[in-house]
Amino acid sequence: MSTPRERVAVYPGSFDPLTNGHVDIILRGARLFDRIVVAILRHAEKTPLFSAAERVAMATEVFQDHPNVEVESFDGLLVDYAERRRALAIVRGLRAVSDFEYELQMALMNRRLGPAIETVFMMPAEQYTYVSSRLVKEVFALGAPVTGLVPDLVEARLRQKRARS
Ligand code: PNS
Repeated sequence: MSTPRERVAVYPGSFDPLTNGHVDIILRGARLFDRIVVAILRHAEKTPLFSAAERVAMATEVFQDHPNVEVESFDGLLVDYAERRRALAIVRGLRAVSDFEYELQMALMNRRLGPAIETVFMMPAEQYTYVSSRLVKEVFALGAPVTGLVPDLVEARLRQKRARS
């Protein structure tokens, strides 16, 4: 009898930076799949706050005690990456109706490009429905604390970055 194939999902994004909303989705995904690969887009924005290496290092440290959570960076088409990883699914978080249109477009385009890979949407816990990397960066840059919105380690790296700039 052949060994059943590991059920792998990829959770792609810019993660600039990782928020507690992302963490919530990753932990939910880790319960549904044998392995969830946090796939960090290398060239996310023209000028990301954190380099791809920094984003990978932070997420790796946050999930160091979760053996079925893997962190990697990727470039190019997501479906090509997901196929290379032999993933069954792409996981995306849906916070509000406002996310839906963009997510639907991406899911349908990805289905056209890679029909074998299913997009699975998951809702984060209510307390994270308004949390986004963009707002975290904005309020932090303007001097507000982001405690509870991002992992402690990410908040520390945000402070280090501000101190160096
Ligand atoms: O967290 P984000 O920034 O909304 O994530 C967007 C991401 C990384 C999922 C998307 O931009 C992506 O998949 N980029 C890779 C290039 C690609 O495949 N584009 C076509 C997607 S339909």
